[in-house]
Parts: sequence; C-alpha cells; structure tokens
Amino acid sequence: MKFLGINGSSRIDGLSYKLLRIAEEEFSILGHQFEVVHLVDYRINYCRGCVSEDMSLCTPEKCYKEHDDFQKVAAKMISSDGIIFSTPVYWYAPSARLWTLIERMTSLENTPRKYLEGKPVGVVAAAGEDGAQSAITNLIVPLIHMGMLVLPFGMTYYSGKEDDPETAVYIKRMVKNMIYAASRLSGYSWWENREVD
Ligand SMILES: Cc1cc2nc3c(=O)[nH]c(=O)nc-3n(C[C@H](O)[C@H](O)[C@H](O)COP(=O)(O)O)c2cc1C
Repeated sequence: MKFLGINGSSRIDGLSYKLLRIAEEEFSILGHQFEVVHLVDYRINYCRGCVSEDMSLCTPEKCYKEHDDFQKVAAKMISSDGIIFSTPVYWYAPSARLWTLIERMTSLENTPRKYLEGKPVGVVAAAGEDGAQSAITNLIVPLIHMGMLVLPFGMTYYSGKEDDPETAVYIKRMVKNMIYAASRLSGYSWWENREVD
C-alpha cells in the first residue's frame, strides 16, 4: 500500500519531518510505501471562500487552476491509503502553512463524492515547549468532519524533547494501526452507510 506524510513545517529538516521519518522507516520495514510532501515545496494559495458564495464552485477541479499546486497535493492525498499530518506548533496551533491546506481541502468534502472519507489518518506535532495538544485537537476536528478515520492512538508529539523514545513507540503503533485500518476498512462509504466498489 501507499501512504502519505504531510510536513506542515517551514523547515524541511526540522522536528516535524523527524517524526515523519520514524513513520517512513516503519512503513518501509513493513513493506509499504510512504511519500512525504513538504508543503514548503508547494505553492498553496489561500482559500477564496467560493463555497460561501456558491457551493458548486467548490470542487477540486475548480479550486484555483492557475499558479497553484493544490491539485498536485490533493491527487496524492486521494490516491493514498492513509495520511499522517505533521505540524510544528506555532502559537498553540498548527502552522498557517498546514492550515491553508486544510481550508483548501474543503473542496474534497463539499462535493457529493467525499474524497477522503474512510481514509485512516494520524496527526503528529513538534513543539518547543507547550501547545501540542491544542494544535492536534484543532486538526482532528475538521479531519473527522471531512470523513477521515482518525485512528485509535492516532496522535502524538514531541514537546521540547527531541528524542523522546515514547513518541517513536506511538508513531510505530500509529503506522501499524494505519496499515491494519487501510486493509480492513476500505470499500465502505461512511457517508452513505453502504459497501462500495
Ligand atoms: C512562529 C512560531 C511559533 C511558535 N510557537 C510555539 C508554541 O506556541 N509552543 C511551542 O512549544 N513552541 C512554539 N514554537 C517552537 C516550535 O514549535 C518548535 O521549534 C518546533 O520544533 C518547530 O517545528 P520544526 O522543527 O519542524 O520546524 C514556535 C515556533 C515558531 C517559528
């Protein structure tokens, strides 16, 4: 299977990526692919708020066609079997870079097809000190509303301690649970409450 990590940090080689590298290694040991998207490498414009004007304007195809990489990232998310979002804690919240992506993901939920429904998801965060829980909570609520399957034990964080071994244990558990959920729970529409092809 093919899984995706999304690094919301402005620093490619920071702690947020370090957390994803633990996942990367575990996916590899277990024989699965894991691609990391560093959002800093992509141009993702602010949401234009089309949905508040006319719901039919808010689809992934119509969401900014020019000078914007949202479609590229959306395609990777849609084709993945599960996603780990990793964010630095910026003022007790996820990074604006990642939050901009979350706002743009409205177009993946607003249409009759719920593109992300049932996709297993985990959230990790890197903080210098404090605020990881609130950053993670902020992320999990919209992800649930978008239909994603937030995993049991699907969150963890570094809080000032670069090499907290307990965090690595949580990430490895998250990876195994993501593989399990992706293999056992696909083929069901949680929105329509029925089996799908
Ligand atoms: C704009 C900004 C705001 C920050 N706010 C917080 C914060 O609220 N709480 C905290 O513990 N650390 C805060 N930090 C520190 C970062 O969370 C920490 O350095 C983290 O490792 C950054 O992630 P990175 O290593 O992936 O870049 C902040 C850093 C920046 C740049």
